Amino acid sequence: MTDNDSMSKPKPVILTCAQPTGLLTLGNYLGAVRNWSEMLENNECYFGIVDMHAITTPIKPSVLRNNVFQCVAQYVACGLDPEKCNQFVQSHVIGHSELAWILTCLTPIGELQRMTQFKDKVSKLGFKTAENESDLKFSHEGARSQSTISAGLLCYPVLMAADILLYNADLVPVGEDQKQHLELCRDLAQRFNHQYSETFKIPEPYLPKTGARIMSLTEPTKKMSKSDENQRSTLFLLDEPDLIKKKISSSVTDSGSEITAIPEKPGISNLLTIHSALSNQSLSDLEDRFAGKGYGALKNEVTEIISESLAPVRSKYKELINQKDYLSKILAEGAQSAQKRAYKILSKVYRKVGFPDRDRF
Ligand code: AMP
Ligand code: TRP
Repeated sequence: MTDNDSMSKPKPVILTCAQPTGLLTLGNYLGAVRNWSEMLENNECYFGIVDMHAITTPIKPSVLRNNVFQCVAQYVACGLDPEKCNQFVQSHVIGHSELAWILTCLTPIGELQRMTQFKDKVSKLGFKTAENESDLKFSHEGARSQSTISAGLLCYPVLMAADILLYNADLVPVGEDQKQHLELCRDLAQRFNHQYSETFKIPEPYLPKTGARIMSLTEPTKKMSKSDENQRSTLFLLDEPDLIKKKISSSVTDSGSEITAIPEKPGISNLLTIHSALSNQSLSDLEDRFAGKGYGALKNEVTEIISESLAPVRSKYKELINQKDYLSKILAEGAQSAQKRAYKILSKVYRKVGFPDRDRF
């Protein structure tokens, strides 16, 4: 490709978003964020911190505000260079909820009620409606005094579709659990194009080649998750070496003593996967190297490699989290670029659906 070609050919637009729900886990890092940082060179990247999604379940305002800063500081610490991508807060860009409303009017309620994540959340929270004012107040812990299912929780996948279509994204990196929502987004884009004429690109899911799936340290057949009630199950990106040591040494291993990555040994496989993802050594090389050694040797080395690999992320984060002005600047610049792109697409959509042109009045 000549320089001219690369100048004239627009880069693919990649968009992904995450809820500002607190600290990232080792699973988020190895399965998602670390891979995003490898896409910055060859793509135009947008990373949304979706605070409007975060209020679909109760969250205390001060917690939400703080989480947004934690989120951007973690992203930058993990290698999302703000010079090479746009990081923005969803509520800073006008268009997400506007487009979501238009798409809501194209979405049959039944499609939303069938979404797996909605059904899971409803069964977890229990179906209750707020019957009086006090049900909607926050307790000190940040949760509402009674759990309620809001219409927002039902409509959440439409807002997600709007997040994607507002930027006419080509590729959307998502985990397994979000594939059904992306499918809805593709259907809505097609429905809109069919009803009003060609407007949206149909976005494709993007599955990184190197995404490792990290399992719980106490129940290694289950995915490592930030919301796990057992504190020992989840390694957080910012855990200090002492805590990493405690969690890895108490991690569940399997019967026998052989160090092999096989389905019958989910605990050992998980430790080997973590090692391999951080050290770039293949699973079979690690199996060879640990042949004849005990589980203790593997745990020691895994502890060491996690502590060492995450040390730069930890120290960068500590430096950044106190620089609120710098973090705000990243988000302001990110929102400005995002808004520019979003505005063009939203204007086109408004025209297509027949909203009168404001400039004519
Ligand atoms: P979540 O924390 O569920 O909102 O997920 C954010 C991103 O991290 C998604 O792309 C997930 O697929 C990825 N992710 C979350 N947990 C893990 C895990 N245990 N292993 C690998 N990837 C994960
Ligand atoms: N629903 C996603 C999650 O909970 C977050 C999300 C919101 C998202 N909007 C998006 C992901 C757009 C990708 C693209 O993980």
